[in-house]
Amino acid sequence: MVERSMFTMLGLPTLLLLLGAVNGAIPPRAHWKPTWPTYKVPVIVPQLTINLDKPQFDAEAKLEVVSPCGPSCHKRSPLPTYEEVKDYLSYETLYSNGSRTETEVGIYIITGSNSGSQSRSRTKRQIYGYDTRFNIFGKDFLLNYPFSTSVKLSTGCTGTLVAEKHVLTAAHCIHDGKSYVKGAKKLRVGFLRPKLKDGSKGANVSSSPEPERMKFQWIRVKRTHVPKGWLKGNANDIGMDYDYALLELKKPHKRKFMKIGVSPSARQLPGGRIHFSGYDNDRPGNLVYRFCDIRDETYDLLYQQCDAQPGASGSGVYVRMWKRQHHKWERKIIGIFSGHQWVDTNGSPQDFNVAVRITPLKYAQICYWITGNYQECREG
Ligand SMILES: *[C@@H]1O[C@H](CO)[C@@H](O)[C@H](O)[C@H]1NC(C)=O
Ligand SMILES: *[C@@H]1O[C@H](CO)[C@@H](O)[C@H](O)[C@H]1NC(C)=O
Repeated sequence: MVERSMFTMLGLPTLLLLLGAVNGAIPPRAHWKPTWPTYKVPVIVPQLTINLDKPQFDAEAKLEVVSPCGPSCHKRSPLPTYEEVKDYLSYETLYSNGSRTETEVGIYIITGSNSGSQSRSRTKRQIYGYDTRFNIFGKDFLLNYPFSTSVKLSTGCTGTLVAEKHVLTAAHCIHDGKSYVKGAKKLRVGFLRPKLKDGSKGANVSSSPEPERMKFQWIRVKRTHVPKGWLKGNANDIGMDYDYALLELKKPHKRKFMKIGVSPSARQLPGGRIHFSGYDNDRPGNLVYRFCDIRDETYDLLYQQCDAQPGASGSGVYVRMWKRQHHKWERKIIGIFSGHQWVDTNGSPQDFNVAVRITPLKYAQICYWITGNYQECREG
């Protein structure tokens, strides 16, 4: 499968380069257009898969993750070793028949690659932004890109379509770090569709002035991948970094999806701003869209203060930037909205909403889960 001679084991110096790569990528300063940087992505491939006992499914789905570790705490934590990273990126797969496997991964880089400089400057943003949410009404919006990529999980969270059959969401929607949540056994993904009265079969639908009635149509999940970094950490300082999961549907959803991409640093994003849409608990049945400024970032997390309620967790955080190779604007998912955190900063509690960044390593892992082919995952 993998030709070893092509690869080198990822040693610590390379790992440091890789970890620096997100902030070290050459910023597209010279261009007025915010442009997607290109990243060298490592190769992550399965090495060994073993069967595990059937899980219990006894955890309650908690839609909020509480972590006492804020930005400064995360920045103080030491860089993981190669063995640790390899362990965090190993994963569990849950099948719809209840069986479960654990897969160890190997991490490689193509020899001769050069990952740029190591600067890890951390800009503190002084400008605080909007904190506004918009309900998205009307078929014209709800059924169209990008809002149509937001789906609801039967456990209460939000997910985003990232491939023909794949949905990206937060790990805590599936697993509480110790056990699978009850609803994970028969996990389904809901797609908003217009509610048609008998006879009206979709004729002349766009002219109604009122918000149209929509309902969810559900598709079963065939398998679910959760990184071991989440299973081990359970929302402690490390676990938070791995709060993501990928779901594979039993059949294709046939909608347009949004690709994933490596998260640029906040200062490279247009206006330092991110966007996401989710099914917030306080507005049942509504898809809620918001955008907001990034307040702080670590290698693995983005901190922002935009308004969000628990049901929004698992939403894909996206930005729209110029893709030079394709000569067009592209939206990509660069993170997964994890949830709300109270963080003690200098004695005064401050609340943040946290999103998990898609780093080059996570990109390689999620992309492999989607495609099963590392060669399709070389460019983030
Ligand atoms: C469950 O499904 C997986 C994947 O289709 C299969 O490999 C495994 O053997 C099945 N397990 C049982 C107990 O049927
Ligand atoms: C659709 O609705 C509009 C406005 O109510 C009306 O003018 C038009 O004739 C309708 N078209 C059809 C095909 O029913």
